[in-house]
Amino acid sequence: MRTALFDALWEDFLLRLCPSARRIHQLLMEGEPLRNDHIALRTFNLPEVGLDTVAAPFIHLGYERKGEYLFEQKKLVAEHFEHPDPDAPKVFISELQIGKCSAELQMAVRGLVAQLDVALDVEGRFLTSGRTWTLSTETYQLLAAESEYAAWVAAHGFGANHFTVDVAQLSTFSDLERLNEYLAANGFVLNGAGGEVKGSPEVMLEQSATMADQVCVIFDDTELRVPGGFYEFAKRYPQPNGELYQGFVTASADKIFESTARG
Ligand code: NI
Repeated sequence: MRTALFDALWEDFLLRLCPSARRIHQLLMEGEPLRNDHIALRTFNLPEVGLDTVAAPFIHLGYERKGEYLFEQKKLVAEHFEHPDPDAPKVFISELQIGKCSAELQMAVRGLVAQLDVALDVEGRFLTSGRTWTLSTETYQLLAAESEYAAWVAAHGFGANHFTVDVAQLSTFSDLERLNEYLAANGFVLNGAGGEVKGSPEVMLEQSATMADQVCVIFDDTELRVPGGFYEFAKRYPQPNGELYQGFVTASADKIFESTARG
């Protein structure tokens, strides 16, 4: 059941949000399936679609709340969830605190969420339902001018924002610098915000990410290519007790969000 949800999210991600992830996956596969460190999901903090709604299917599968994160400038809060099975990917869910945004943004977001047309089932089928509201380019641009994050959720609805390769599992690349060089040589553009490698062994987590694919989104009035999903790479280091750190680093996650900047 857990695998089915993650498989459905992966298929939706490849189809709609990040087609190039398939090629990265193939480049890094070495016979064994890639280990997914975590997935990330984005939403608005309205009760119908908020963090708790998105988290419910994962809690239903046995996931537990672990860490909380605050991104003051981006007006986001996030939580991460872990499953007792250490092989299960972690889940990182963020939500935009729309009460801290302009009245125009709040009205636009409420107008979208009011059109929500999907059952919020605890099995999580809604997580791969994409966007069930209509959206004009004018609203998209109004949101994007204030919050790239708001524009992303408005354009795509539900779905995974990124999947993450556990780099420690790869035998070909033990460090992110070499992996990044390899990806760049294969034509992928990396997120350079705060440097290509975010974090350090001292904070027990290093991360890098591609810039999001530009994907075609249908608006009321036209079609536009807008930032979709991206692929992340994470390398975890042991804590003083010898166990690998499983949390996230706010300063790094803050820069990872910028993989969906419109440039
Ligand atoms: Ni991530």
